[in-house]
Amino acid sequence: MIVVKSEDEIARMREPCAVVRDCLAYIGEKITAGMTTREVDALVEQFIRAQGAIPSCLGYGGFPASACVSVNEVVVHGIPGERVLREGDIVSVDLCAYKNGFHGDGARTFCIGKVSAEKEKLVRITEECFYAGIDGVKAGTPLGDIGFRVQKHAEEHGFSVIRAYTGHGIGREMHEDPAVPNFGRQGAGIRLPAGAVICVEPMIAAGKWRVKVLPDGWTAVMADGRPAAHYENTLVVREDGVEILTL
Ligand code: MF3
Ligand code: CO
Repeated sequence: MIVVKSEDEIARMREPCAVVRDCLAYIGEKITAGMTTREVDALVEQFIRAQGAIPSCLGYGGFPASACVSVNEVVVHGIPGERVLREGDIVSVDLCAYKNGFHGDGARTFCIGKVSAEKEKLVRITEECFYAGIDGVKAGTPLGDIGFRVQKHAEEHGFSVIRAYTGHGIGREMHEDPAVPNFGRQGAGIRLPAGAVICVEPMIAAGKWRVKVLPDGWTAVMADGRPAAHYENTLVVREDGVEILTL
């Protein structure tokens, strides 16, 4: 069941979402070759707490860190650790902040120094897939339209859409209804009501879409070992369009 938010609740969600936005920008400035993924996570945790928010990934379903830090062939849910970032890596950083009784959620994929032309294109197209997905979305839009447009844009550029993970509703819980797939059929699915708050998060692979989860139970890697990217924002569905809260 979709929990529609009142204007008052949306106002309260602006704060955790602003923390997510600012934290992602901060990480974009700080992230560099030679850092470990654990150091990225430490910056995230310190930043979120300094804003009076709680890093809601920490402990979620047993996840052991404040950010998912996913390098190259890791698509999502990378556990921060001793891996050292190197020039040419792409690094997806996905984080959630809890404040005012609500969660915000967002992700970006960063390039470390100069990356290959393929990775550069993948990161760019993944962000474009987000905008393709939300293009024209407003109250009454069938959910399937989002996935259809994301998939179309990715596949037009020779990339594929991860099937095993989706976007989601968000609010008092990090994950609420509905699931928001990045693939689908135009006109299919429920119609989004005004006041729905959802995370649209294309996860796009340079190669084939199959993923496997490592024995740690979290780290999702591309089965073919090729790179993948992630881009996510939290947004409100309005009568006349969407309002993005994490930009
Ligand atoms: N931020 C992620 C999402 O988009 C959730 C990460 S799972 C966690 O849904 F365990 F790390 F929280
Ligand atoms: Co999310």
